[in-house]
Order: sequence, then C-alpha cells, then structure tokens
Amino acid sequence: MKFFRLILGILLLSLILIQFFPTLNNVSDEVPTTDIIQSRAVPSQAATLVRNACYDCHSNNTQYPWYDKIQPFAWILENHIIDAKRELNFNEFETYDSNKQKKKFQSMKKLIEENKMPLTSYKIMHAEGRLSSREKKIIIDWIEEELKEY
Ligand code: HEC
Repeated sequence: MKFFRLILGILLLSLILIQFFPTLNNVSDEVPTTDIIQSRAVPSQAATLVRNACYDCHSNNTQYPWYDKIQPFAWILENHIIDAKRELNFNEFETYDSNKQKKKFQSMKKLIEENKMPLTSYKIMHAEGRLSSREKKIIIDWIEEELKEY
C-alpha cells in the first residue's frame, strides 16, 4: 500500500508541476493579405464554414477552448496547431506557389470527403467542426471552382 501511495503522490505532483509549463499562444488580430479568404472571392457560406471548422488549427489565430488552460490538453492542442500550420496555413496560402496551392486544394477536398478533416478529436469537442453533408458540399463546390483555375 505504501508503494501505491508513493506512486499516486508522484503522479499528482507531476500533474501539478506540468501546469506551469508554458505553451504557444497562437493568437493574432491581423488577417494578412495573403489569407485565402481575404484574397479570393470565396462564397460567404463556404468562407464561414472553413473559418469555423479549419482556422483553429490552420491559421495564426486559434479560438482557444477553456481546456487550453489545463495540461496536458494544452500540449496536445499546441502539437496539432504546429503540425497543421506546417502542412497548411490559410493565412499564408497566397505565398504558396501554384503547384502547392493546387495540391493543397486537392487534399482539402479528399480529406473533407473522407471525413479526415477536421480531426476527430476536434469534432468531439467542437460542434462547428462536425460538418453535415450539405456543409461539406458547400466547401467542396467552392474547392472545385478553385481547382478549375489550375
Ligand atoms: C484540430 C486541428 C485541426 C483542424 C480543426 C483541422 N485540421 Fe487539417 N490538419 C491538422 C493536422 C495536425 C495536420 C497535419 C498532420 C496530418 O496530416 O494529420 C493537418 C493537415 C491537413 C492538410 C494537409 C494534408 C496534406 O497532405 O497536404 C489539409 C489539406 C488539411 N489538414 C485540411 C483541413 C481542412 C480543410 C480543415 C477544415 C475542414 C481542417 N484541416 C481542420 C489539424 C487540423
């Protein structure tokens, strides 16, 4: 019993200590001119859906949920945001060359169709991430229009 109490104590102490580790604060008021929605004529419904379902990870401005104040959740969110922005940052979309833009549009379409984006963990916590078939179609129709330009 003593042993288990020691382990429990160490676990609790670690849980308290990790609360003091700082994490990235992905917040910016600025919407740069290189932002995909800012620079293109994105139909307003598609723009709203993409902003609500994708921008928390794929832009420089995350609307943080309450559990971002708690470790280890803050670390998980931080990792998602770093990995997501490395692959695709909608705020920087117009800095990509046209080949990369085309590829990103293609994978957006595929991932939305296959329900792989937004990530499942995000959909559990965010209602606006759970896209209905109608909403998916609105985004995909827009992507198909964009793809005609490449
Ligand atoms: C919870 C965070 C999160 C949300 C919300 C999210 N993504 Fe992602 N996305 C990621 C992460 C992490 C990666 C990189 C790792 C991976 O591919 O799984 C990624 C990768 C991608 C890629 C790059 C794949 C490639 O091969 O180029 C595309 C495209 C993408 N996401 C589209 C979207 C779209 C469209 C939405 C909204 C409908 C969305 N994502 C919402 C986290 C997210």
